[in-house]
Amino acid sequence: MCGIIGYIGEENALPILISGLKALEYRGYDSAGVALLVGDKFEVRKKVGKVEILEESLKDNNLDSHIGIGHTRWATHGSPTELNAHPHGDCSGRVFAVHNGIIENYKELKSYLEDRGHIFRSQTDTEVVPHLIENFLNSGKDFDTSLFDALKMIRGAYALAIIDSKNPETLYATKLSSPLVIGVGVEENFLASDPSALIGKTKNVVYLGDGEIAKINHNNINIINFEKQETPFEIVSLEWDLEQAQKGDFSHFMLKEIFEGPEVVRSAFRGRIKPKENAVKLGGLEIVSDKLKDIKRLIVLACGTSYYAGLVGEYYFEEISKIPTEVHFASEFRYREETFNEGTAVIAISQSGETADTLAAMKKAKEHGLMALGIVNTVGSTIARETEAGVYNHAGPEIGVASTKAFLSQLTILLLMAIYLSKDKYTTEPLLKELEKIPNKIEEILYQSSQLEELAEKYKDYENFLFLGRRYNYPVALEGALKLKEISYIHAEGYGAREMKHGPIAMINPDFPSMAIVPQNSVSEKMFSNLEEIKARKGPILAIATEGDKKISSLADDVFYVPKTMEALEPFLTVVPLQLFSYYIGTKRGFDVDKPRNLAKSVTVE
Ligand code: F6R
Repeated sequence: MCGIIGYIGEENALPILISGLKALEYRGYDSAGVALLVGDKFEVRKKVGKVEILEESLKDNNLDSHIGIGHTRWATHGSPTELNAHPHGDCSGRVFAVHNGIIENYKELKSYLEDRGHIFRSQTDTEVVPHLIENFLNSGKDFDTSLFDALKMIRGAYALAIIDSKNPETLYATKLSSPLVIGVGVEENFLASDPSALIGKTKNVVYLGDGEIAKINHNNINIINFEKQETPFEIVSLEWDLEQAQKGDFSHFMLKEIFEGPEVVRSAFRGRIKPKENAVKLGGLEIVSDKLKDIKRLIVLACGTSYYAGLVGEYYFEEISKIPTEVHFASEFRYREETFNEGTAVIAISQSGETADTLAAMKKAKEHGLMALGIVNTVGSTIARETEAGVYNHAGPEIGVASTKAFLSQLTILLLMAIYLSKDKYTTEPLLKELEKIPNKIEEILYQSSQLEELAEKYKDYENFLFLGRRYNYPVALEGALKLKEISYIHAEGYGAREMKHGPIAMINPDFPSMAIVPQNSVSEKMFSNLEEIKARKGPILAIATEGDKKISSLADDVFYVPKTMEALEPFLTVVPLQLFSYYIGTKRGFDVDKPRNLAKSVTVE
C-alpha cells in the first residue's frame, strides 16, 4: 500500500524524506517520488522500483530545501510508471500533492478540469487534486479557500499531503478514511501515513481526524475542520524506539518479531496482574467497568491474523468469563443485517488500528448504540480513538507484513480481558500463574528453531498443505495456514480436524502433507483418530505435540515438541513453530518474506 512522508523544518528535507520512504518500504510499493521546494521552484523526482534508485538519482543534486513531500506508490489507477508515480502537480507547477486512498469521482473531475483547459500527464486519480486546487486559484481565490473548495468536490478515501510554492512555510495535510499522522519535533514537523516512519525522528505525534485540514509550519500546527473552525488536538507519545524498528542481527523483520514473542507476552501482562488477589487490572477498561458488569453478549470484530486471535478469544470469553461471544470478519459484519440486544458490546482487534474494514464494522456497531472496546497495538490510531475504552498491546511496532508477534500479544490481552470479566477466581488463578510462565516456554521453542529449519527444508517443495487442530488449536490451524500461504505462496488450508471428513480428506495423498496441531489435551485422542485416517491414505504428517508424548511418533512422520501447558494457553506455544516453519519455507523458496507479493501491512482501503 502507498506511503506518505512530509517534512518542514530547519534540516535539509531530502535525506529526511528518503529515510522516511525507506521506513515505509515494508508496506509494499512499486515506485517512489519526492517534491522539494528549492527557492521558489519545485524539484520533483520519481523513479520506478526501489527508494534506493530514487536516492541514487538525487545524490549529486545537492538540493537545499526545508520543505518537501514524498511517496511510495502501490499502483491502483494506472501502471507503475514514472509518470504515474507521485507527487503529482498542477499545470503551472505551483502545487504538488501525494495521496493514499482512492478518489472515486476522479473521472468526472478530470473531464470537468479538461473542459477548462487542464492538461493531465498521468493516468492516476490523484492528479485531479492539484489541478482542482489550481482551478480555484485561477479564479482568484487564495490557497486555503481553493483547497477547501477542491476538497468539497472530492469523493472517496484520501490522505493528502500538499505543498504550494507560493506558501513556502506551510505543509498542508488532510484526510478522510485513510490514516495520516503529524510528527511533532523541535523547530521541525513531519507528516507520515504510518507512525512507524517517524521512529527515530520524534516520539510525539498528532493523529489527524477525518475531515480535518492541518497547516503545518516548522514551529506550529494549526488544525481546522471543513467548516473552517479551529479544532483542538492532542499530542500523544509513541513508546516505540529506533531499535524496535530495525532488523538488528536478524535477516528479516519477520524472524526478529517471532523472536520478540516472549517479550511481547511479558509486556502485555506486565503491571496488569495483581498477584495477591489473583486478579487482573486493566486501566483502559476502568471507565466502563460498571457497564461491563452488565455485558450479556460480546462480538469480536477483526480481520486476518487478528480475527484468528479473536477466535481463540471466543473460547476465553465463553469458557472463562461465561459470556456468549461471536467473532466476525469485520469485512462481513459491516454488511450484515443484525439485531442487537441490550448488553451487547463489540471488541475490535487490530494491530495497526487503521484497518478500514475493522473501523467500519466498529462504527456500524456504535451506530446501533453498542459499547465499542478495542485491543489495539498502535497508540492513538483511528480504531483506538473510536473506541469507548480498550487495552493497548504494548508490542512495539510490527514491521514484517506477516503478523506474528501481534498475535501472541492479542492472545495475552484477550486472556486478561476474559479473566477481568470473570467472576470465578477459582478458575482464573491457575491461568494467571501459567500465563506468567508462558514467555519462558516460548523461549524454549525458539531455542529449537534449527529443527524447524530442517523440517522446512524437508517440506518446502510441497505445493499443498492442510493444517488441522481442534478447540483452542483450531484457530491456530487457521493462522498457520494463513502464514504459510502469505509468505511462501503454498496453497494451505486450515480445518477443524473433525471437519476434514466432510470434504478435505478427499485431497489427502502422498503429495499432500498435513500439519497436525496435537498437544496432549482433552481432544488429543480424537485428533489421533483423525491422524490415523490421514495415515491410512498415505498422507505425510508433521505434528506439533507435547514434550514427552510417546504415541505421536508412531503416527506422524515428523514431530516438533512444545512444552506442556494448560489447554487454554496452548495457542501461545503451538503457533510459534508454525510461524517459524512458514518463515523458513518462505526464505528457502527464495522469497522476501518481509514483503510478500500483493500484500500490504495495513489495509486502509476497503
Ligand atoms: C496476516 C496479516 C493480516 C492482518 C490483518 C489485520 O499476517 O498481517 O491478516 O492481521 O490485515 O490487520 P490489523 O491487525 O492491523 O487490523
